[in-house]
Amino acid sequence: MSKLDHIETASVDELRSLQLERLQKTLHHAYENVPMYRRKFDEAGVHPSDCKTLEDLNKFPFTTKQDLRDNYPFGLFAVPMEKIVRLHASSGTTGKPTVVGYTQHDIDVWADVVARSLRAAGLSSRDKIHVAYGYGLFTGGMGAHYGAERLGATVIPMSGGQTEKQAQLIQDFQPDAIMVTPSYCLNIIDELERQMGGSASACSLRVGVFGAEPWTNGMRAEIEQRLGIDALDIYGLSEVMGPGVAMECLESKDGPTIWEDHFYPEIINSENGAVLADGELGELVFTTITKEGLPVIRYRTRDLTRLLPGSARTMRRMDKITGRSDDMLIIRGVNVFPSQVEEQILKFPQLTPHYQLEVSRHGHLDSLMVKVELRHDCASADLHSLGHQLRHRIKAMIGISTQIDIVGEGQLPRSEGKAARVLDLRNSACA
Ligand code: DLL
Repeated sequence: MSKLDHIETASVDELRSLQLERLQKTLHHAYENVPMYRRKFDEAGVHPSDCKTLEDLNKFPFTTKQDLRDNYPFGLFAVPMEKIVRLHASSGTTGKPTVVGYTQHDIDVWADVVARSLRAAGLSSRDKIHVAYGYGLFTGGMGAHYGAERLGATVIPMSGGQTEKQAQLIQDFQPDAIMVTPSYCLNIIDELERQMGGSASACSLRVGVFGAEPWTNGMRAEIEQRLGIDALDIYGLSEVMGPGVAMECLESKDGPTIWEDHFYPEIINSENGAVLADGELGELVFTTITKEGLPVIRYRTRDLTRLLPGSARTMRRMDKITGRSDDMLIIRGVNVFPSQVEEQILKFPQLTPHYQLEVSRHGHLDSLMVKVELRHDCASADLHSLGHQLRHRIKAMIGISTQIDIVGEGQLPRSEGKAARVLDLRNSACA
């Protein structure tokens, strides 16, 4: 493996003291240059100079997506526009997008952390990397691209879509790694299998760097087996940077290591905002500690996970994300995340890993329809019994009653980026 950055294996004390120094600088930078932070800190009666230890961060107020929306488009930038060299934006399902801005230094740090992430995946300048995250305002494509270039690898900037061409170029260019959402990867695998006339595991790929949406270990096993690769988890969000905030290491494959020398994590109880101890499940909160253009202080990600001790690196890890609090469905009083249903579907070899959840309302009660596909080589399966078994498993493991609709392979919509797992019919006339 190529050389790690010194801080990746430094002592915890060295890491904590670097974090404190950077955190103090960031709090001053935000207070002095962003009117919203000055106002919020003043209202909370805190000043950057009150931060004497890392724990003191919990005296400072949170930042939310709504704060970014309220200051749309550039109101939270902490440097003059002439210092901003790039904008990205996340679409969001409702309202205005959130806009993020980067200085040249931010772009350099971003490329460094993505290069570090790719190194953690066992990749080096000798490798070819096929990037199928979308290029454009979404941070996935360009974030992956500049990091792969920084590593010195050969980048194939394919972007999302054109699935037939994706599969063709994978066979022609023989990349060593692919960077793509796990749901779109499934789509590419189907196409590769079609073009290769059977299994795709003989293709040149040896590593996949998957993120931008929740995915289960069951999905990991499915992708690894069908592509003959190691499938690793990369995490990030545009408000904090983009892909490369955290990355799973090839040698341990035990959840993404958070690049804590740039992004300081906390886990909070999302109801009352209290900071939780490492190991406890809650909402992930990030403070950027090196960002210039758009520093974020205690940004509430809405992602639910736990902080775990460092393993392959000094920095702490995060557990696989269970889901976003926004994606949680409440079906007759039971909380459920799409990933929990995914876990059950993937236990059935007769079903494809493509699925969709349809929520509708009958009277005052919500009901959930799980739509799944039957593999074409299982056409003779007894659908009634299969549906019954899946319904039973979901009831036993998650505690909700569902209806199951088993359709033919290829009938559910395919993702080319982030998959839309839930179709919410509750507010539409037909429900
Ligand atoms: O999705 C950045 C990214 C691109 C990450 C490519 C990884 C790979 P946003 O569009 O701002 O940024 O969406 C961020 O996506 O808050 C999570 O809910 C979800 N997410 C990102 N990575 C993962 C992951 C990019 N590995 C939101 N597992 C985040 C689960 C993830 N969810």
